[in-house]
Amino acid sequence: MEHPIPTIIIGKKGPFIIKGGAKLIHPDGREELRDGTVALCRCGLSAKKPFCDGAHKECEIL
Ligand code: FES
Repeated sequence: MEHPIPTIIIGKKGPFIIKGGAKLIHPDGREELRDGTVALCRCGLSAKKPFCDGAHKECEIL
């Protein structure tokens, strides 16, 4: 079965947006499958890392 090429949208501000789902492998080795759109924090301020929780809107980092 052919796998689609993932699309990662890198905006000027905010998270990395992954379209088409993703498999996340956490530091403890746990795997997590996500469907649809995944937003990964790149500012370091999210309380729900590795996911974006919108905290970047309150900072000047990005
Ligand atoms: S990029 Fe959104 S909280 Fe970090």
